[in-house]
Amino acid sequence: MLTVSNLSSNYGSIRAVRHVHLQVHEGSLTVLIGANGSGKSTTMRTIAGYKRSAGGTVVFDGFDISRWPPYRIVREGLAFLPERPMSVVAPLTIEENLLLGGYAKRGSISETLGQCYELFPLLAERRRQHAGSLSGGEQQMLAISRILMTRPKLMLVDSPAIGLAPSVTDQVYEALIRLNREGLTILLIEQNAVMALAISDYAYLLNRGENTLEGSSVDMQNSQEVVDTYLA
Ligand SMILES: Nc1ncnc2c1ncn2[C@@H]1O[C@H](COP(=O)(O)OP(=O)(O)O)[C@@H](O)[C@H]1O
Ligand SMILES: [Mg+2]
Repeated sequence: MLTVSNLSSNYGSIRAVRHVHLQVHEGSLTVLIGANGSGKSTTMRTIAGYKRSAGGTVVFDGFDISRWPPYRIVREGLAFLPERPMSVVAPLTIEENLLLGGYAKRGSISETLGQCYELFPLLAERRRQHAGSLSGGEQQMLAISRILMTRPKLMLVDSPAIGLAPSVTDQVYEALIRLNREGLTILLIEQNAVMALAISDYAYLLNRGENTLEGSSVDMQNSQEVVDTYLA
């Protein structure tokens, strides 16, 4: 579904991502792990079209999207939830925020809205409240829902649990796992490698902007390198 080949991405003279390759198969939950600064977020931003690549190709659903602008990529069904997403629009209600997300109009908006409310019942209860009144965790649920309104086939999610209380983290992850079981393909960045490997099918490890190791998450859990570096 997504094939990233030889992807490089720089910040001026800093070569943040070098010749990275990734494959995300339809239906999978694939994770990208690695130490801070290893290039995970840059890789994801570049795939989603928010950062220009310095080489390589990104093929999604048969299209070479390497040079596409973000809006066109979203329209094709690849959605992106950045780390600490630009927050929700505080003066609007929760429902208005969700309807804003629905511009891609693939399928019925009211049906998708219903799916979001089913996934996060709390948002349904508070649909008429201003989004600014939500806690950090609730805003993250709203941010996820807004992305779901574009009816993605593949969702890129960068570190959704950062800054959230453990109980909210669990809710966010339960929702992502459920979405994946219902058919949404997910590429996830998660700082906590134990958690990342526990919930995913396949994992890529980046180090200093390059691929170092990959494998099924079960194999990775048993890999001495991964255990020594991340799971010790
Ligand atoms: N906006 C930026 N400007 C300059 N350098 C950056 C910027 N964002 C990230 N970097 C650098 O690029 C490298 C990769 O960062 P990043 O992709 O954020 O890593 P990760 O998400 O794995 O923590 C790091 O060396 C980081 O310092
Ligand atoms: Mg990051």
